[in-house]
Parts: sequence; structure tokens; C-alpha cells
Amino acid sequence: MLVRHDEKAPVARLLTFLEHGERMANECAKAQATLAPDSGSRRFLLSQARQEAAHAVVFQGAIAWLAPRHLGCAPFLPALEEYREKLKDALARQDLLETFLAEQVILEGLGEVILTRIEEGLVKRNAPFGRLRRILLQQEEAHHGFGRRMLERAMAEGRIDAETLSRSAQGYLALTDRMVLTLSDLFESIDEDPSAWARDVWTFLPEWLTRLSQEAISCQPSATVVPEQLRAEC
Ligand SMILES: [Fe+2]
Ligand SMILES: [Fe+2]
Repeated sequence: MLVRHDEKAPVARLLTFLEHGERMANECAKAQATLAPDSGSRRFLLSQARQEAAHAVVFQGAIAWLAPRHLGCAPFLPALEEYREKLKDALARQDLLETFLAEQVILEGLGEVILTRIEEGLVKRNAPFGRLRRILLQQEEAHHGFGRRMLERAMAEGRIDAETLSRSAQGYLALTDRMVLTLSDLFESIDEDPSAWARDVWTFLPEWLTRLSQEAISCQPSATVVPEQLRAEC
């Protein structure tokens, strides 16, 4: 058996989390395309939106194959909902650079970590659709790379600086910390190593952001993160 019976619920919850992340990325990329300053980035964002919609369908299919009972369940994950609200607010303010930071750089960086870790687990279990998963991961890498280039270009042209971006990143990173803790519990329940996975999160962020963010964290009197349980509500 590829996935043990007792692994099905946590894996389905993880896939539900990813499916919701894909839908959020789809909506965000569509909204970003309307704010894009040039036709090249508008085209990229519209094609990203199409790819994110397809990714959501892939995860939905995986849930249906693995644990149909969990199909259509909503993941109870307040941190993800708060993230969506913050991103919506940045889109409403038409702050395109903040949305690149929050969606393509931070959230898709986290998505890449999750997918890479899942990939290792799936290869170990001889799961099918390896080629499809590799295409999906390549597309995610391209979205993340696009966001980083847009911010680097804006910094090079003096439209924003690393300190300002790093300040806006703090609220988003605090929310991804909470998501990481929740997902770590899930990884533990399917015998994956959550500490190796948690370490990976920082390796997917640009150096200028991790350096400034770690300085900001070490200046805080106490950084406490409240874990929350990811559960499915049907
Ligand atoms: Fe995606
Ligand atoms: Fe993406």
C-alpha cells in the first residue's frame, strides 16, 4: 500500500491545505495581472493564474484518489485565512510589490518546500504521476523566481528598498511560522522529519530577506508562536 490507512487523514489534510493555497494563488495572480505595469508581466501572471487553477484540480484529484471522504472539506487553518485577508488588503491598496512579496516570494516559497518534502515522501512510497508532479514543481519554481526578479528589479531601480520590504514581510512571515508549526504536526504523523522540513523554509527565501528578518526577530523581546491544529471541517 502506498499510503498506510492511518496516514490517509493527515495526508488528505495536507493536500486540502495545498488545494486552498492554489486557489488563493489563482485569485491573486488574476488580480495582479490587472495591476501589472507591462504586457510581459501581465502575460506571465495570466499564465500563472491558469497554472494555479490546474494545480488545484491536481490536488483535488489526489484527495479523491487517496481519501474521498475528505473531498470538499475546508481546512480549519486561521493563519491561512489571515494571510488571505492581508493579501486582499494589499491588492485593494494596489501595492503590487507587497503582493509579489507575500504571494510569489513568501507563500510560494513555502509551497515549494512542502511540495519538495511531499515529493521525497511520495518517491519513497512509489506513488504514481511522478512526471506530473515534477511539472507542477517546475511551474512553482518559475512563479517564485518571477516574484523575486520583480522585487530585485524594483530595488535596483530605487522604487523600494530591502528594509521596507523586510518590514512588510514580518507580518506575513509570522503567519507562515504558524502554518509551519501546524504542518509540522502533520508531517510527524506521517513519519516525515518536521525539523528538517522547518529548516528548509528559510532556504527558499532570498538572502536579503532572511538576513533582515532574522535581525528583526533577534531584536524582539520574546517571539512566541501559538501552534494551532489543522483539522478538516466537513
Ligand atoms: Fe501552484
Ligand atoms: Fe504557484
